[in-house]
Amino acid sequence: MIKPVTGHSLMLACDHGYFMGPTRKLENPRKTIEPLLPYADTLAVTRGVLRSSIDPKWDTPILLRVSGGASILKEDLSDEEITTSMKEAARLNVAAVAISIFVGTSHEKQSLINLAKLVDDGYEYGMPVVAITAVGKELEKRDAKYLALACRLAAEIGAQIVKTYYCDNFSKVVNGTPVPLVVAGGPKLNSEVDIFNLVYNALEAGAVGVDMGRNIWQSDNPIATIKAIRALVHENATVKEAIQVFEENKKEDLRRVESTTRV
Ligand code: R5P
Repeated sequence: MIKPVTGHSLMLACDHGYFMGPTRKLENPRKTIEPLLPYADTLAVTRGVLRSSIDPKWDTPILLRVSGGASILKEDLSDEEITTSMKEAARLNVAAVAISIFVGTSHEKQSLINLAKLVDDGYEYGMPVVAITAVGKELEKRDAKYLALACRLAAEIGAQIVKTYYCDNFSKVVNGTPVPLVVAGGPKLNSEVDIFNLVYNALEAGAVGVDMGRNIWQSDNPIATIKAIRALVHENATVKEAIQVFEENKKEDLRRVESTTRV
């Protein structure tokens, strides 16, 4: 999942349906995912989407979301359990499994014990575990003090990779987490420049990459966006160079829209 040549990773997050349902522009997972896969090092999905919408001939490594049990209809999203067994993850031949933890919520202990059990099972099967420091609807929780705490807990319990949010003073989060960190994108940002700045700053602070969804596939130019993020993640591109890659590849998105609307 982490490319040995660059030590970095671009994970494409498409697991939102497990609690958000048919998220905008991910209504048809296959249609959204297929054109972006050539540019992703890893694809994050649930087993339902993996079995229904991912062609076995596509050989991108899979990060399998294995926690769930809540939906956006509930105020508190933290009441999650493990939804997919390690045996099933091994049967699906995935590269790693992912689980959310909800530090500071009413289900803090439950989610941390879920992580601990998953890590134990993971060692039985040789399966790495990615812990996601989820904040539910409380997006304001995404500050360095909280995220450093949540990431450290995840690493102490044994997660081999931690996925978190970018924040001001992100190096505090990186420095306190003794395993690789990747950042999510969160809800759609206002512009491509904002996305590229987030990725650039996260890498500069020591993240090994991104596990990003909405800011890629909710874009009007998803292919150009993921190619620009790839340049940041794997080619040490600056934000200015990423914008250039984005501009150069916009026509590829246009061509795709034209070919799918042609009758
Ligand atoms: C939540 O559904 C998942 O953990 C997502 O994979 C995560 O939030 C990353 O996606 P986004 O970049 O859209 O926030």
